[in-house]
Amino acid sequence: MATISNLQKARAAYQPKLPKALQGPVAAVEGNATQSVGNQEEIKALFPNTYGMPVVKFEKGSAAACEPFNVGVILSGGQAPGGHNVISGLFDGIKSLNPQNKLYGFLMGPGGLVDHKYIEITPALMDEYRNTGGFDIIGSGRTKLEEEEQFEKGIVILRELGIKALVIIGGDDSNTNACVLAEYYAAKKYGVQVIGCPKTIDGDLKNDQIETSFGFDTACKTYSELIGNIERDCNSARKYWHFIKVMGRSASHIALECALQTQPNVCLVSEEIEKGEQSLDDIVSYIASIVAERAAQGDNFGTVIIPEGLIEFIPAIKKLIAELNDILATDEAGTIAREDQIEYVKAHLSAANLSVFTSLPADVASQLALDRDPHGNVQVSLIETEKLLSRMVASRLAEMKKEGKFTGKFSAQHHFFGYEGRCAAPSNFDADYCYSLGYNASRLIASGKTGYMSVIKNTTAPASEWIAGGVPITMMMNLEKRSGKFKPVIRKALVELDGAPFKYFAANREDWARNTRYIYPGSIQYWGPAEVCDQTTKTLQLEKK
Ligand code: FBP
Repeated sequence: MATISNLQKARAAYQPKLPKALQGPVAAVEGNATQSVGNQEEIKALFPNTYGMPVVKFEKGSAAACEPFNVGVILSGGQAPGGHNVISGLFDGIKSLNPQNKLYGFLMGPGGLVDHKYIEITPALMDEYRNTGGFDIIGSGRTKLEEEEQFEKGIVILRELGIKALVIIGGDDSNTNACVLAEYYAAKKYGVQVIGCPKTIDGDLKNDQIETSFGFDTACKTYSELIGNIERDCNSARKYWHFIKVMGRSASHIALECALQTQPNVCLVSEEIEKGEQSLDDIVSYIASIVAERAAQGDNFGTVIIPEGLIEFIPAIKKLIAELNDILATDEAGTIAREDQIEYVKAHLSAANLSVFTSLPADVASQLALDRDPHGNVQVSLIETEKLLSRMVASRLAEMKKEGKFTGKFSAQHHFFGYEGRCAAPSNFDADYCYSLGYNASRLIASGKTGYMSVIKNTTAPASEWIAGGVPITMMMNLEKRSGKFKPVIRKALVELDGAPFKYFAANREDWARNTRYIYPGSIQYWGPAEVCDQTTKTLQLEKK
């Protein structure tokens, strides 16, 4: 066994809490038939075997004998705190049904299923990973499961291992793929169930049925601790403006949650910028005006939180990205050498988009034009928006100085918090939530469900009162353009400007901008008073108020 820290040793003994309904045998209570959130006719035609199924809720039931069965599990996409607890919940859940049941983990993401790379998760191995961060028990990857050839390769190993159900732990894209796989195996009558679990630190896999994705709680608390520490440093030295980019891909949920926890001087929210059709220039003017106002009162310091997806939401750049995606999706573009691609896209862009493209700094332009992840997303984590903005703010302030509108000093520091939070040891909330999601998945399997997402609701109440069940994945789908084509996907949840978390922020931000109202959340605590250890995110608290 690897050497482990004292905290890890103590934490290994933590028994995550389960909802009351999952603490013994369950009965599945089914609701009415469901429909997708959009494009109902098209989604129904694409998923004839898994469309329209009812929402399921588990209640206390009576014990029944269970024939032994095996389960496979896959971790897909970016790491999120609590992934190991989904696996330990699933492990304990299937063992409680029949101690002979086995759990196999496919290695390094969905690719492990296709390439037949797997391990058996034994009790000893499982015990090493309980309540730990990371996905390293089996690794993760971003291989897209979408080709029939992959599904067919998958069924070979699933049959060889006697696997009756596959649990895919992933974000919106991976759960979309889980649904496609569930439909395919159902259509072929292969007898393998597929169940999804809502993972992503980004917080954008949520809807009427999913209250929050796991990992968001711990990641935001980790970033907020760091932002709070920076704010305290900033308030002590009083000489820097800190530009802090936080992960979250397209959605600004992480930026907003960190702002609610730390009360910075500025927090940008991409969704608001898009709605207000703001340009890069408008954003720079806004930040510069706050820097100047604080300088006028003698405060040449401050903190700015920037969501990593900001650039994609500036309307002019959004249009540019949409056209770039179409250009890059053609067969011809696939044949162009990487070093010639910038010139190639420039030759194909419309005049309006070309002028936006050439106005961007070269590094940002080439990032937008060249790199996509396997799901066709711009790799926003590689774009240094925090430096781009602070450079532009500095030159705006230099102009303002000449006009006598800025009399202070401006010195910037830059930070990007992303990978720092994705593998943190799960907070009590994520440890309990994830364990419950995994345990609940075992009950969905035992009830014969496929094409369902494991869901736990009522999460602002104590864990014993949480509600456990399953939601058909098709219910969350609509059609969206991906890599130039319309595809069925789970609708991504962006920050709602009429939602309580944004409204609270908007009502307070002017005060936070001018006055210094920093909050220092400190580090995640595992033992101590409930108001310190068991608080959910502010987002969830405000949404459920
Ligand atoms: P998922 O959507 O897979 O959960 O990943 C989240 C995320 O951390 C984003 O916030 C970020 O933009 C991206 O992954 C970074 O990807 P990579 O790990 O491939 O660099």
